Amino acid sequence: MSQISNDMKSLRTVEWKNNKVIMIDQTKLPNELTFVEYDDFNQVAIAIKTLVVRGAPAIGVSGAFGMALAVLQSEAKNKDDLINDLKKAKEILFATRPTAVNLGWGLEKIMTIAQTGNSIDEIKELVISTAKQMAEEDIEINKTMGKNGSVLFDDNDTIMTHCNAGALATVAYGTALGVIRATKESGKNVKVIATETRPIQQGSRLTAFELKHDGFDVSLIPDTAVGYSMANGLVNKVVVGADRIVKTGHVFNKIGTYQVATMAKQHGIPFYVAAPLSTIDLESKAEDVIIEMRKGTEVTGVGDTKTAPDNINVINPAFDMTPPELIAGIITEKGVAQPPFEESIEKLFEANK
Ligand code: MRU
Repeated sequence: MSQISNDMKSLRTVEWKNNKVIMIDQTKLPNELTFVEYDDFNQVAIAIKTLVVRGAPAIGVSGAFGMALAVLQSEAKNKDDLINDLKKAKEILFATRPTAVNLGWGLEKIMTIAQTGNSIDEIKELVISTAKQMAEEDIEINKTMGKNGSVLFDDNDTIMTHCNAGALATVAYGTALGVIRATKESGKNVKVIATETRPIQQGSRLTAFELKHDGFDVSLIPDTAVGYSMANGLVNKVVVGADRIVKTGHVFNKIGTYQVATMAKQHGIPFYVAAPLSTIDLESKAEDVIIEMRKGTEVTGVGDTKTAPDNINVINPAFDMTPPELIAGIITEKGVAQPPFEESIEKLFEANK
């Protein structure tokens, strides 16, 4: 791993260049815009685990790029050995984070394409070109999703968002923030309220940084001010991203999303979710989705400052589930699914065949 220049200004979260994976180191934001460079898939696995790269679509593409490094690292002399090396890399990359379905989706897509290759060279070519294509498609999908969602927002709306579902959570442009970008690009004047998103502050560190970087009117609130903001008419609509959506319309997203959605319902504020079809898991049931539990030190301190007594017991779930009855619409690249979601989600997939 090596660090490279921090003077690049465009927010491209993850990229393949000269047979290496380049990522913004999100653990350093907002204080430093630093890029890291990896040539080993094990480093990519560590980067996903330690949140150097995070956000469901971004880890999906990072997983695919990890596999692209694995084909280059493999010393296999025949197809079967190369496929076995790829399977091992896939397991290591998959074990990093359990909740976002995009990671497994990205790895599976690469594995499937690899199996179609007839020679070592062909497999290498297929894996690398597919991973690169997935990155490009992610941007296009976000732009289409943005346009589809932008019609739901009006001139002078103030839109609340939670966590970071922006360029930094995808390859570029973003899902929830992509919808906000497209709304602005369509000529509507919108303001954004970003929640801080404790415990590790993706809202203040990443969303506020990204939107300010791109010239948006953004205000930061503590998570505890969601109710105040809604009760006092400061918010017209909410849009968030998702890590996994099951076919019943239950949405798994950053911890606190459920509270925001519940509060929005209480105040009659439409609550939207923006996510690509790759975030929709048609196989799992809501009760089977694994919620990642993270280390207690994320809660017992802010940065290096301790904010809780020693040896305190901590419960630190990284995600929660928002039930479909709190959701006004799920914005995808194939259109907006409306309740009842079981039917509308199925239709989106049929349209995608
Ligand atoms: O723990 P993180 O930062 O990976 O969690 C990210 C989120 O919960 C995002 O809202 C979600 O992945 C959607 S990203 C387009």
